[in-house]
Amino acid sequence: MALRNILKQGDETLTKHCRPVTEFNARLHQLLDDMAETMLQANGVGLAAPQVGVLRRAVVVLETNVPEGEEYVIELVNPQIVAADGEQEGPEGCLSLPGSYGLVKRPLHVKVRAQDRNGEFFELDGDGLTARAFCHECDHLDGHMFTEKCDHILSDEELEAYSRQEQQEESE
Ligand code: NI
Repeated sequence: MALRNILKQGDETLTKHCRPVTEFNARLHQLLDDMAETMLQANGVGLAAPQVGVLRRAVVVLETNVPEGEEYVIELVNPQIVAADGEQEGPEGCLSLPGSYGLVKRPLHVKVRAQDRNGEFFELDGDGLTARAFCHECDHLDGHMFTEKCDHILSDEELEAYSRQEQQEESE
């Protein structure tokens, strides 16, 4: 496994439409391993192949709706959101734009259909942050950043107000 360089917003690669993965070989496995390591090292909850310069439809997402310490990496090859319901609005960020967050509306629940690293098809449900990450990472595969879905980047004060509000809701 190896860390890969994460491209930053402004790099043209992040605006490109990615091609489907057609070969489920050692090279793909290496890419997915490297993406997971790179995401975890950067404390992210999702990373798409174009963010490491590979224009193929593959993403990794960290499932965080589990007890602390039991988070695990989900690999989605050629993912498609096949169902969505509910709505959530909250601060969203991206490893290609570190330290910046904007308010983005996403479905609260999504179902994704994808292939695993060996080409087997499966369906998976995502809730809350995981649903947000599935949508955000799929957007990357079509060359889109979250900044296209929010009207401004939150100031430090706005971001603090949001995290205070969330903490309050959690303790209620
Ligand atoms: Ni991103």
